[in-house]
Formats: sequence, structure tokens, C-alpha cells
Amino acid sequence: MNIKLNIDNALGTVINRADVDALAPAAATAIGHLNNGTGAGNDFLGWVKLPGELSASLIDDIADTAAAMQRDCDVVVAIGIGGSYLGAKAVIEALSNSFAPYINDTTRTPILFAGQNIGEDYLYELQQYLADKKFGIIVISKSGTTTEPAIAFRLLKEQLESQLGKAEASKRIVAITDAKRGALRQLATEEGYKTFVIDDNVGGRFSVLTPVGLLPIAVAGFDIRALIDGAKEMEKATAEAGADNLAQLYAQTRNALYNAGKKIEILVNYNPKLHFLAEWWKQLYGESEGKEHKGIFPAAVDNSTDLHSMGQWIQDGERTIFETVISVANQQHEVIIPTDAANLDGLNYIAGKRVDQVNKMAELGTRIAHVDGGVPNLHITIDALNEKCLGELIYFFEKACGISGYILGVNPFNQPGVEDYKRNMFALLAKPGYEKETEAIRAKL
Ligand code: PA5
Repeated sequence: MNIKLNIDNALGTVINRADVDALAPAAATAIGHLNNGTGAGNDFLGWVKLPGELSASLIDDIADTAAAMQRDCDVVVAIGIGGSYLGAKAVIEALSNSFAPYINDTTRTPILFAGQNIGEDYLYELQQYLADKKFGIIVISKSGTTTEPAIAFRLLKEQLESQLGKAEASKRIVAITDAKRGALRQLATEEGYKTFVIDDNVGGRFSVLTPVGLLPIAVAGFDIRALIDGAKEMEKATAEAGADNLAQLYAQTRNALYNAGKKIEILVNYNPKLHFLAEWWKQLYGESEGKEHKGIFPAAVDNSTDLHSMGQWIQDGERTIFETVISVANQQHEVIIPTDAANLDGLNYIAGKRVDQVNKMAELGTRIAHVDGGVPNLHITIDALNEKCLGELIYFFEKACGISGYILGVNPFNQPGVEDYKRNMFALLAKPGYEKETEAIRAKL
């Protein structure tokens, strides 16, 4: 196992070991619900045993489809939002060169994202960029009816068809959607797109290890088999309740902190490549737990950047927060701080050290300062930013989320609150079928 979790610096704050242990029976019950399908939302548990059950033929199909897209396209646009976007984005960002957009790396196919916003300038500029490119599209929508990706797909499909003609364009489009339902399934069938299925029993935010995440990650040139292997190992390690189950320990600890008044969890990284992993994590926990006027608010910071922005608040602001720090033990590259004869910047005391040694001291110093300042600290260490470790980390967070939601007493697998904005948006846009809502909302304006 390449992941460690240390809760020592959360203990002796607003909670102690007994508070964490007191939640062990609830966690064991939650794990039983996840394993046996006996809890709320039990029709969305396909992710629990997914890593171990992914068939070799599906993985081969994804790899072959990715190879064809790499061969045929200079760039691929992955269209999707929420759970149909964030997992792939998180993994690709974590594994990519920080300057990937600016270097010409022929071993990688750039993945651009669309449908995760309805920014008019974003879409205009994307279309301009694609105008002289050989591009392909992976359109991802479980429901097949989500407005944001549907708009992006309509635009880019038309663009691709006008560049290549309908028949050729359809060979560069892959649709990932429900097996039978939804507008995208119907369109894919009519147009003859290559398709992959999102199983009914896997919710969007738990779908990164399905074709939803795996295809864009494979097109980007990363090793999906290693990612799945990592997830499989974590699946085994967290399958049963027990003192050595890290997902259980994380779920118990964060619930104990929540019960003691810590309402906000900040996921902290010291590696800019983890920014979108935190975005994925925010959706996973926010959409799973924020219900019935309950739930930890998931926030995130990127340090050192945010030490010079949010650091003041975290150190000294309202004491309703705790933090979970993700450390990456080993970097891929070594950079040594040089000696400077003039030493005008006074940095010679760290000359000869690796930049990562300084980063680790910034991290340790900050963790100590925050604990001293009343911010309980959970510490996750991953060995390195590679596919295997990310697979472990993803499954760890998913499993802990299911356990944690059940301990909290909500259904972690629905998202009723997401519908409210859609109803208002459709009413404001006078969508057919929303006449009453349109009248009601116009009366409020
Ligand atoms: O987690 C979820 O279920 C949501 O975030 C969905 O993934 C998101 O709303 C996109 O839905 P769809 O894939 O149906 O377009």
C-alpha cells in the first residue's frame, strides 16, 4: 500500500481517541451496508466492487479506442460536467507535465475540456483554437440530458461535421452514456458513434474508474491498468471493517471532528498538480454529504500559493475548520538550490538542499502552526504522483465517502439539491414543459 493516514494531530484537540473509536460500530455498519447493499441509495453501489470487476475486454476496448483517437487526432475534447468531468481532469492534471500546453510532446495527446461551463468566450475561443486542428470528441453524460455538455456538444459536433463531413466526423466522436436512456444514447445510435456504457448503479461522482474517466485518461497517454491496479489494492484493503481500514479511520475521524463543531474540512496540498484532485474531492464529499442541512463543507487550498492568501484565515479565523493534508513523499525530479557568492537574498543557508526539502519544511511548519492555532490535522502521505498511487487514493476517498455519509446519516448517493438550479434555469429560458415555473419565476423578478 502506498498511502498512509496519520490522525495523531487531530487527537488531543477538540476530539480524543475515544471519540474516534466511539464511531467504529457505525462505521462497521456502514461498511456492511456498502458490501451488502442494505443502506440508503443501495441502487448506486456499483463503484464499491468496480475495480476488481472491471473486465479485461472492457479495458482492452478502452485502450484500443484511445489508441485510435491518439492516431487520428491532434487534440481531443472531453465534454462533460460534474462527475462526468472532474475525475478525468484530476488524474490528467496530476500526471501531466506542468507546462504540457506549451511543450510539443508527441507522446501525449492533449485533452481539452468543455461542457463544464457555459462561458460564451470559453466556447468561442475553444472553437477558434480547434478551427485548424484535427480534433476528436469524447462526449460524456450519464443522463444524456445535461444542458451544459449538450450545448458544448452541439457546437463542436457541428464544427467537426463542417470540417470533415458527417460520416468522417462520426468516426472521431465517442459517446459515454447510459445503456439505453437519454438523448445522447439515441443520437449515438442514430449517428453510429462508438459508445461506452455508464452503468446505472454508478453515480457520476463515483465514475472515474469507469470509461467516463478511463477513456480520457488513456487518450492522454496514461496507464489506466496501473490506475485500476492501485484502486484494486485499496478495494481489498478497505473491504472489511477493522482497525487497519484507512478509509474507515478517515471517515470516523472527520465525523468525530464534525460532531465536535468542526464544520469545514480543508484539503491541503503542497503540489500544484493536485489542484484538480481537490476539485474532484470537493464534489465527491460535497454532493454526497451536503443534505438535510447537514454535512462538512469541503474546501481546498493549494500551498504554498494559498499560504499567502488563505493562510491568515486558516491560522487565525473562526475555529470551525480542520484540515487534511496530502503529502507526496517522492518527487519525479530533483532540483538543488544553488549557492550564490553574493548571497544578497540570504538563501545560502539552504543552498545544496533540494527544493522539495524546503517544501516539506514549509508543510511541516504550517501543520504545526495550524495545530497550535486550533486546527486539527489529518495527514495523508502518498508515495508518488503516479497512476498506481492515484488509483489507491481515488478509491480510498470514494470508500471513505460512502462510510462517512452513512455515519452522518444521509443517503450519500443521491443529489436532490442539484435539481433546483436546473428548474429555475429552464423556467427562465422558457423551456417547453416549464410554463408554470416560468410564470412563477417571472413574478419574482
Ligand atoms: O455526481 C453526479 O451525479 C453529477 O455531478 C453528474 O455527474 C453531473 O450532474 C453530470 O451529469 P450527467 O453525466 O448526467 O450529464
